[in-house]
Amino acid sequence: LFSAIGKYFILTLSSILLLAACSKNGSNSPNSSGTLGNSAPTESEEFWTTKLSAGSATSTDYFATSHAFSYPVPTLNPEELQLHNQGDILFEQHFSEDELRPEYGLGPVFNNAACIGCHNRDGRGSLPAGLTDNSWIKLGNTEALLLKISIENPDDNEDYNLENKFGEPKAVPGYSHQLFQAGSYGLRGETSSDGQAEIWVKLERSSFQYPDGQILSLSKPIFDLRNPYDEYLDSSGAQKSRLWESDVKISPRMGMPMYGLGLLESIPESDILKNSKVDRSNEGVHGTPNYVYDAVKAQAGNPYPLSIGRFGVKASTPSVLQQSMAALNGDIGVTNPLFPVESIFGTKLFEKYLANKPSPLKVEANESIMRALTFYSQTLAVPPRRDIENSDVLAGAKIFSKISCTSCHTPSWQTDSNSSIIAYRNQKIYPYTDMLLHDMGEGLSDKRKDFRATGSQWKTRPLWGIGLTKVVNPRAGFLHDGRASTLEEAIIWHDGEAKYSRDRFADLDKVDRGKLIRFLQSL
Ligand code: HEC
Ligand code: HEC
Repeated sequence: LFSAIGKYFILTLSSILLLAACSKNGSNSPNSSGTLGNSAPTESEEFWTTKLSAGSATSTDYFATSHAFSYPVPTLNPEELQLHNQGDILFEQHFSEDELRPEYGLGPVFNNAACIGCHNRDGRGSLPAGLTDNSWIKLGNTEALLLKISIENPDDNEDYNLENKFGEPKAVPGYSHQLFQAGSYGLRGETSSDGQAEIWVKLERSSFQYPDGQILSLSKPIFDLRNPYDEYLDSSGAQKSRLWESDVKISPRMGMPMYGLGLLESIPESDILKNSKVDRSNEGVHGTPNYVYDAVKAQAGNPYPLSIGRFGVKASTPSVLQQSMAALNGDIGVTNPLFPVESIFGTKLFEKYLANKPSPLKVEANESIMRALTFYSQTLAVPPRRDIENSDVLAGAKIFSKISCTSCHTPSWQTDSNSSIIAYRNQKIYPYTDMLLHDMGEGLSDKRKDFRATGSQWKTRPLWGIGLTKVVNPRAGFLHDGRASTLEEAIIWHDGEAKYSRDRFADLDKVDRGKLIRFLQSL
């Protein structure tokens, strides 16, 4: 079945065998002071027992239910709450290709018809049910996973300029920056899903052996792209597509949790940069900021529209507004004031769309949809911590510091004093991220550059609220592609700059590893 040469593109061919962790001797023991960045060292222990992870912007709901991520920030004023609620409706709405409906705008190509379809109950998504390592499953149009695609950018050396959009990944000719497995308007004629290509997925398994002999099985999704719309037979009769050429890079990404984002936006840039200069070379840790194309600045006529990246798994977007509107335009296919042109504009498939479309092009979502969706995405409350008096949780917090998880998962920050959302000004928050990129090793690499992020660099994920992940979506997975089904697996995948810390985790006895996990579950 899988023998036709060139027909199937498999992202990763070889299975990764992670070697057993080897312990380091104590000679270069890390700085275990905990909190880095703009927090004084004396505060290092404060995060152990802080209940309100987002200060007064923490949710007041103390019940760990499946709605735990869906509360508005309690300190919004009435007008703000109203805007949040308008956004809530739009976030849950399924967009439609029917021009007579208010939720018009879906397609011509898309990954999912609703924001909530990928950000399940405002949390993260999950890989398709029933994945195994021996049979491929085809992604439908209700999946939370998407593939960013691009080709190697020849201008993309250290020279970042407006012309190369500061290192933005280059669209695959005939495609775009993202692969759309679904479409509307009968773009592919008789083909069922009407997208640019079919995305098939299965698991690749590997395992990790702890120094104490215990074995942990791991898996990650791998992909096969079939039936691309531009497929043709070359002169020798081989099946070809631009998508199958060897310079095409693919980055699988899973829908991320939505709470606390406006607060992450309010961390002063100068504080993030201070942290990037902290020398943690004794652990091999050196975070770097991503710098990315800023569509808002560009639209305002700024001649140098560059900003620090904050959102997405590689910090490749600068703001919640840009991320949300890029999602509306790309993931769902709804053009909007910030991104008014369809993602596949200029491709052959777009011409087909124009031919099949009943009426002229217009921007599908207006200014007020843009405002409400963005505000909603900025104002979901972070859940409060639970079980903070539990002795295992407290012991786990101490271990989290001691084995230097805090080197990247910076516990606390102070937000700035000029956020447009008054509730966000001057808040002490505990997101557990330094907002910086780190080399996480080959096992996690997607081998695709994204602005200044290399294939193996990822933004440190915030850990606040992470303990409720499975309560909100029992099938949710951790890490950028949702590969880790448990927190333990997520930690064991850490490598590269995080190897020091990961090895020290592996060196713990089983009971202490359990305590660290208990701490994470209390967040
Ligand atoms: C097809 C799935 C999908 C849909 C639909 C989708 N998203 Fe996302 N979302 C993702 C993925 C995947 C990421 C990570 C993207 C990246 O790293 O490039 C993400 C990231 C985000 C982030 C940044 C989160 C963070 O912590 O950095 C925001 C904000 C966001 N999405 C908002 C929205 C909004 C608003 C909508 C609806 C207009 C939406 N998304 C629709 C999959 C989706
Ligand atoms: C060198 C920096 C670094 C260190 C040290 C580090 N992490 Fe991470 N962590 C990251 C990055 C980057 C990611 C995101 C990786 C990805 O998306 O694939 C991450 C992801 C995670 C996740 C998954 C989060 C999610 O939302 O899916 C968990 C859990 C986690 N780290 C816990 C820990 C623990 C516990 C430690 C200490 C043993 C630790 N990390 C040490 C950088 C680090």
